[in-house]
Amino acid sequence: MKIKIISGVAAMVFLTSVQAMGQKTLGEVTKGKFLFGVAVNSRQVIGISAIETELITREFSAIVGENCMKPQPIHPEENRFNWVDADKLVAFGEKNKQVVTGHCLIWHSQVGRWMFEDANGKDVSPEVLKERMHQHISAVVGRYKGRVKGWDVVNEAFEDNGTYRNSKYYQILGKNFIKYAFQFAREADPDAELYYNDYNVETPAKCDAIVALVKELRGEGCRIDAVGSQAHMHMNTPTLDATEASLKKLKAAGVKVLITEWDISILPSPFEGAEISTNFSYSAKMDPYRDAVPDSVQQKWNKRMLDMFGLFLKYSDVVDRVTIWGLTDNTTWLNNFPIRGRKDYPMLFDRNNQRKSVMDEMIKLAEKDK
Ligand code: XIL
Repeated sequence: MKIKIISGVAAMVFLTSVQAMGQKTLGEVTKGKFLFGVAVNSRQVIGISAIETELITREFSAIVGENCMKPQPIHPEENRFNWVDADKLVAFGEKNKQVVTGHCLIWHSQVGRWMFEDANGKDVSPEVLKERMHQHISAVVGRYKGRVKGWDVVNEAFEDNGTYRNSKYYQILGKNFIKYAFQFAREADPDAELYYNDYNVETPAKCDAIVALVKELRGEGCRIDAVGSQAHMHMNTPTLDATEASLKKLKAAGVKVLITEWDISILPSPFEGAEISTNFSYSAKMDPYRDAVPDSVQQKWNKRMLDMFGLFLKYSDVVDRVTIWGLTDNTTWLNNFPIRGRKDYPMLFDRNNQRKSVMDEMIKLAEKDK
């Protein structure tokens, strides 16, 4: 109780100072261009930290659950759903007049093994898997019908070289699992937007495969509104040119683009990608900024954030939403991925919940773009 009161008072002090400065927010200045969103965790939705809740509601026009709507958390067993956190997320967004999107229906990660196995632990038949997908998607999309703007229907179905990922879905159903997912989602909420989402969309072969998928799905009469580009970035990759090339390709394919999980890690990276099962062992060399980020490195990160944000603004005719994958440097998943226990600095708010100076620059850029 004591903690709650202290953080409540701190939040009031914080708010008063921000309001007194009359500071604009990124959510406000991007209005009419794209939604500016944030991924929130379940602690934040229930308001454990009043300051974090305040930042989420003040600064952003959209929210998405960082984990609570994923297959395993929401559907841990065949006949059991866990709606608690997802219900709170949707109610939170409604209360604060923020657009809520759903992440994600079909994904090879964070899904219960039960989805693919029979009672003997053997792979189920294509018919059974298709029916389980149907049950999952109908239940989840149906529950939030009319309240969730759009869904990441399928997440990460391709390898970086453009071939299909050899997931359990692919092994059992072949590439048609993607089509089925889009059909089931549309059936459950015909008015919801439907998205395909992936990382490293800036890789040409992967982007081409996604464009081909969009065409194929549309050819089959499926609804697909947008491609989500996760945009988990590093200090040198992807390049601005590669990112622009992917935006151009998607625009030419006639789909909207969502930047769905944007973060720029400031740390050295042992690899490129966001396959969450990947991890490397810790070494101090790979965790160079435990005490502080040197100014030159900070400047480089700021510039990269601004350059990318400028690109999203340039393509705001097709970019419908830009979502940051987390709130503060304290809570970012990158402190534990792909190496556990590092100190990364990829977010817009620092470890003391303070806004970083780059936000002011981003706001200026968005205002100049009007
Ligand atoms: C991450 C979450 O941020 C972590 O909290 C969780 O432990 C693992 O998943 N691609 C996605 C996201 O589509 O769902 C992942 O989120 C990051 C990579």
